[in-house]
Amino acid sequence: MTSARTAPAAVLCGLGAVLPPRAVANEALCAELDTTDQWIRTRTGIRERRIADPSVSTADLAAAAAATALESSGSRDVHAVVLATTTPDHLMPATAPAVAARLGLTDTAAFDVAAVCTGFVYALATAAGLIHAGTARRVLVVGADRMSRLPAADDRTTRPLFADGAGAVVLRSGDTNEPGALGPVVLGSDGTRRDLLVVPHGGHMHMQGPDLFRHAVDRMCSVTRQAVQLAGWRLEDVDRIVPHQANARITAAVGRHLAIGADRLVQHIETVGNTGAASIPLALAQASADGTLLHRHRVCLTAFGAGLTWGATSVIWPDLKPAAHPHHDTAMERP
Ligand code: ACO
Repeated sequence: MTSARTAPAAVLCGLGAVLPPRAVANEALCAELDTTDQWIRTRTGIRERRIADPSVSTADLAAAAAATALESSGSRDVHAVVLATTTPDHLMPATAPAVAARLGLTDTAAFDVAAVCTGFVYALATAAGLIHAGTARRVLVVGADRMSRLPAADDRTTRPLFADGAGAVVLRSGDTNEPGALGPVVLGSDGTRRDLLVVPHGGHMHMQGPDLFRHAVDRMCSVTRQAVQLAGWRLEDVDRIVPHQANARITAAVGRHLAIGADRLVQHIETVGNTGAASIPLALAQASADGTLLHRHRVCLTAFGAGLTWGATSVIWPDLKPAAHPHHDTAMERP
């Protein structure tokens, strides 16, 4: 599915993210699983990941990231909250209204989007659609997951990968030519391969890693090419690709296939792991804070996840203001 660019554009004007403070190193997992630090580092690129305390919910992470993004946008006023998550706090209701309520928004549209690790790109497309249609002028888009809850405690193939975190952006109505305007979004899915990564009702995650790996590389490459082409760019024009962080080897393979060098690929999986729908906004927040993403960079966001699902979009990086009053929370810290 491809959405054409229509006015008004959805313009990125706020960004925030949080991580749980507890870092779990590979060595700590080796005490519980039949694995080694070397296997995890060489096969996945992960050295440590952040794991939230059992009492911390997806809404807790989402609300903390959202508060920071609203602060950076300069206004707490939004007309919709779209939350991408695979780990909602309840089967019903959705988690987004609880997040909105934490922010004092008790009269605002709020709903969840479920597209696993592509969830943030699907949520961006949904939010942009609300803005294009004139339904909302400012939308809060959050990606938050407690992915560490999904693997079985004794599963060495999935437990080292998945972790917790949240990131958020604010989109406002604006002009297609201004920095921050989202380009065309490309989305896709193939439910015939839903068996590759699945959490059955009441069960734990099952993953067919090698097959999933191949699909992730193929789909991320093709969807990136499409989004870049629809933006009117060439791959060599792209300053930064911000991929979903599933495995450092997947990101490296995507870079090789697209002839995009490591200096143009944003990677943070080494210290964060796979945080599901949070991974792209977390990577954006980290890269924006450390100067990897600069004003006017041509940026492509690209994701792949269970479903299977995939999606990508483009943006000329805006001149975002850091949050004026750093958000303090004893349970969370900024990346
Ligand atoms: N420690 C030691 N050995 C292990 C571990 C571990 N943690 N995990 C698996 N192994 C073993 C396997 O049992 C297997 O042993 P065998 O040869 O005796 O059977 C061997 O290592 C190789 O296993 P593979 O699964 O073939 O290893 P691979 O190199 O493919 O790496 C991995 C596995 C890391 C899971 C990789 O396939 C991968 O990253 N796949 C994609 C992950 C992904 O995209 N995930 C989700 C997408 S995002 C989302 O939607 C949530």
